[in-house]
Amino acid sequence: MKLKQAKIRVEKDFTVGQVDKRIFGSFIEHLGRAVYGGIYDPSNPRSDEMGYRRDVMELIRELNVPIIRYPGGNFVSGFNWEDSVGPVKDRPRRLELAWNTTETNAFGLHEFCEWAKRVDSQVMMAVNLGTRGADEARHLVEYCNHPGNTYYSDLRKKNGAEAPFGIKTWCLGNEMDGPWQMGHKTAMEYGRLACETAKMMKWVDPDIELVACGSSSIGMPTFGSWEATVLEQTYEHVDYISLHQYYGNQENDTPNFLARTLDMDRFINSVISICDFVAAKKAGKKKINLSFDEWNVWYHSNQEKHEPWCEAPAQLEDIYNMEDALLVGSMLITLLRHADRVKMACLAQLVNVIAPVMAMPEGVFKQTIFYPFMHASNYGRGTVLQTLAESPKYDAKEYTDVPYLDTIAVTDQDTVTVFVVNRAEEELATRCELGGFEGLKKLSHIVMADPDMKAVNSLENPDRIKPQTLPETLLAENGKAEVKIPARSWNVLRFSK
Ligand code: AHR
Repeated sequence: MKLKQAKIRVEKDFTVGQVDKRIFGSFIEHLGRAVYGGIYDPSNPRSDEMGYRRDVMELIRELNVPIIRYPGGNFVSGFNWEDSVGPVKDRPRRLELAWNTTETNAFGLHEFCEWAKRVDSQVMMAVNLGTRGADEARHLVEYCNHPGNTYYSDLRKKNGAEAPFGIKTWCLGNEMDGPWQMGHKTAMEYGRLACETAKMMKWVDPDIELVACGSSSIGMPTFGSWEATVLEQTYEHVDYISLHQYYGNQENDTPNFLARTLDMDRFINSVISICDFVAAKKAGKKKINLSFDEWNVWYHSNQEKHEPWCEAPAQLEDIYNMEDALLVGSMLITLLRHADRVKMACLAQLVNVIAPVMAMPEGVFKQTIFYPFMHASNYGRGTVLQTLAESPKYDAKEYTDVPYLDTIAVTDQDTVTVFVVNRAEEELATRCELGGFEGLKKLSHIVMADPDMKAVNSLENPDRIKPQTLPETLLAENGKAEVKIPARSWNVLRFSK
């Protein structure tokens, strides 16, 4: 039988934009076992002198995560940052209303900033605009970033951090459009508060960048009007608007699930249009960019229950399968495709809670989604190229004309990396043509595929799903190659001299 044919074409000079490395960010929330029993576990022999899990840090370094959002999430909308600093014995235990648990505050701001440094990452800090407001937010910026000789900067020093933390990126609250949020607001209420908060935070430290809350998903009833109202209120004072989106395969319909990134693409395009509409309306020269600061697959753990008010129960511990890794790969491709406007993104989350890294008391393992993220983060930096893909298409339950191939190319100096997801149940014979690059002669091909879409990794069987590197090939013609893209697979094609 003749294989289905596909084609990928790029030209060196036809670019989309520079990748901002912060699109490979992630997220740690005080939720479930992300912090306690995840990154921090002082009684575990695998932890260092600070109580940080060494094995977890090692895996995070492999992911090469440049920025990590903290401390929430829904958690932040009820968080008093002052509870999380100072001597641990004096920190209050609090009822945590977002996730129905008890927060001990044994791990806080200083511990997180030190941990982030050890995993070579920057902090993206969220302020509470749910139960609190501008005053607490400006104090937090002073605490973190002011050199000294004021109440809050001296308090930081007294608490052990002589040098400022220098946190550059700040989120103005979290998902304030959602009725589940503590202190949920209308767009106008939030827009006014975010504007006043932003002004004061930037007066304290003019070098910071601010992210206003966009919609919690494209499916929110206020999507579109929320962004327009919020930006009309905040345009002059903020730099980014956030997008959040999670997908699931509740109906066990793989072709439909794998097409979900068409929706993500529409979400991004719509938000760009609204940003530009508000700029035009205000005759403003400033471009508001996008911070896709929560994205992932999330649905396996939706039904789980725990005892109310317990400490750090297992929550949202999705175990990811092969098809989840394909969608995560496709979501990464979608983010890269919009590199000109999406400047930050956070895979939500990083450890134990809907995460690529799972930490059990006895050891760690890499989830299936670990690999596409690791590849994109390590090989997807440079300049994104406009990538023309010709492939057969299919219709799914909610989408029509879904191309089997989802692909994007990124170039960095003498290398071109092409990321490819094949959504088809068959192998695709794919011709790659990279124009304008001199002397591309070698191709290495990393592939992750498995006939069982539901196969998962575990502590007992950590390598059930993992990528393989095929033997390097020499190209017959400069920059041109015929590549077999296996059925339902994630691929990294690296062309070099
Ligand atoms: O990441 C899990 C939760 O999803 C976050 O706390 C919230 O912001 C979103 O709804």
